[in-house]
Amino acid sequence: MVAILDFGSQYTQLIARRVRELKIYCEIYPYNVPASNLKEKNVRVIILSGGPGHITESELSFVPDNEIFRGQFKILGICFGMQVIAKFFGGKVERGKVREYGKTVFYPEKDIIFEDVPQSTVVWMSHYDQVTRLPDGFKIIGRTENCDIAAIKKNDGTIYGLQFHPEVLHTEKGKTILKNFLFKVCALGTDWTPSSMVDMAKNEIKSKINNGKIICALSGGVDSSTLAVLLHQVAGDNSLSVFVNHGLLRKNEEVEVKNALGSMVNMKYVDASEIFLNKLKGVADPEMKRKIIGETFIKVFEKEAKEFGADFLAQGTLYPDVIESVSVFGGPTSRIKTHHNVGGLPEKMNLKLVEPFRYLFKDEVRKIAKAIGLPSNLIQRHPFPGPGLAVRIIGEIDREKIEILREVDAIYIDELRKANLYNKRWQAFAVLLPVRSVGVMGDQRTYQYVVALRAVTSVDAMTADWARIPLKVLEKISSRIVNEVKTVNRVVYDITSKPPATIEWE
Ligand code: XMP
Repeated sequence: MVAILDFGSQYTQLIARRVRELKIYCEIYPYNVPASNLKEKNVRVIILSGGPGHITESELSFVPDNEIFRGQFKILGICFGMQVIAKFFGGKVERGKVREYGKTVFYPEKDIIFEDVPQSTVVWMSHYDQVTRLPDGFKIIGRTENCDIAAIKKNDGTIYGLQFHPEVLHTEKGKTILKNFLFKVCALGTDWTPSSMVDMAKNEIKSKINNGKIICALSGGVDSSTLAVLLHQVAGDNSLSVFVNHGLLRKNEEVEVKNALGSMVNMKYVDASEIFLNKLKGVADPEMKRKIIGETFIKVFEKEAKEFGADFLAQGTLYPDVIESVSVFGGPTSRIKTHHNVGGLPEKMNLKLVEPFRYLFKDEVRKIAKAIGLPSNLIQRHPFPGPGLAVRIIGEIDREKIEILREVDAIYIDELRKANLYNKRWQAFAVLLPVRSVGVMGDQRTYQYVVALRAVTSVDAMTADWARIPLKVLEKISSRIVNEVKTVNRVVYDITSKPPATIEWE
């Protein structure tokens, strides 16, 4: 296995994605994980990520376990990671004369890690500090105009350092370089395939629950649906998938989910909409809404689990949720919003959590879904947040608003499907705004709701770009919405990416 030690880079996840795209399993660890833990996990290769630290200011808190450098692992250091290597082996790191940021021309030497890379190639740089004195036993294998030591290699070929970011797509030969490192330098083989992903998830379930009973929080999204089917394949009638209607589902969602999964899992439908909507009455704060929904969900599941005799609760938590909700540095740094399947769980809970996807990215779950035979329309479904329409009705929620949003959303999605655009977008949805605007229809003044449409492209929801929906399609959607939903007289389109916005509005 490959371990990525995270020094706090914004690109750490990207490194993980790139390694897995090359069909090699990897996990992200805090930068100071003990080498013995990595050995136990059968780690042979370590990648040190970049990060915001400064070696020059000798921030000792960013020093990894020195044992990793004693020859048991092959190592690649990226950006700050390369500086960590240089410093450990006695090199010098100093603030550079200029800051290298963005696309930069890199001149590699002849080396196995640069096989099939031209003599000059564009790479992505993002650093101020740089290695200014090579450590003994190392050689320089690449430079740029402003950085004489832009790539280094230990003479015995076990450790490499790159000042640039091969994981970023702007580095033209980034994938080739990572491939060379993993396959040629480290001689790893590929074993991260859909069937090994299925095995890993099933083993995780088996080892956790033994012969116990488990319930699953089923939302009808691809993650929880895949999980429900896996649980059923592993635990049979000892598993129960509970599909809770919190009153904040999309139009026809209950029927669609029941039809799609009813025959594949042991399912129970619970209509708890009264309870949820009563608790949400008068609540406008987004985090409060999430908290209430998260807690109410758990209460419902606890009751169902008790009835069923289960000790375990399965959730389709994904790797990005884990990384976004829990900082690797252990602190609550930059918590953006509490995704209810991670951060919103009550501290005291009677059920033990089973989360077999907590190391997987969404595209990997989709691969599992395909491998275990989920219908393709379910696999392609856009993600839908646990708190449902509650985070798409800005401000206070009531039944009338839910009904309006359901209708608007259904029209929007219907038109995207007709235009053959639905599957090409990561997510598309409507948001009901807490404002009314003046309009005119049939010579009459109107004073009605405004809805915003959002569509984004993304690979893993960590970053997202607003989707360029053709104007003709937007025009049709807008006109259908104001014609068919009487309480809406204005439609706007959200043209903000993530960052600085998030995908959902709350
Ligand atoms: P944001 O809004 O944080 O969303 O950019 C990133 C992705 O996560 C989904 N999302 C959630 N999913 N529970 C979930 O299961 C949640 O509480 C939640 N909040 C956001 C969102 O739809 C997007 O795909």
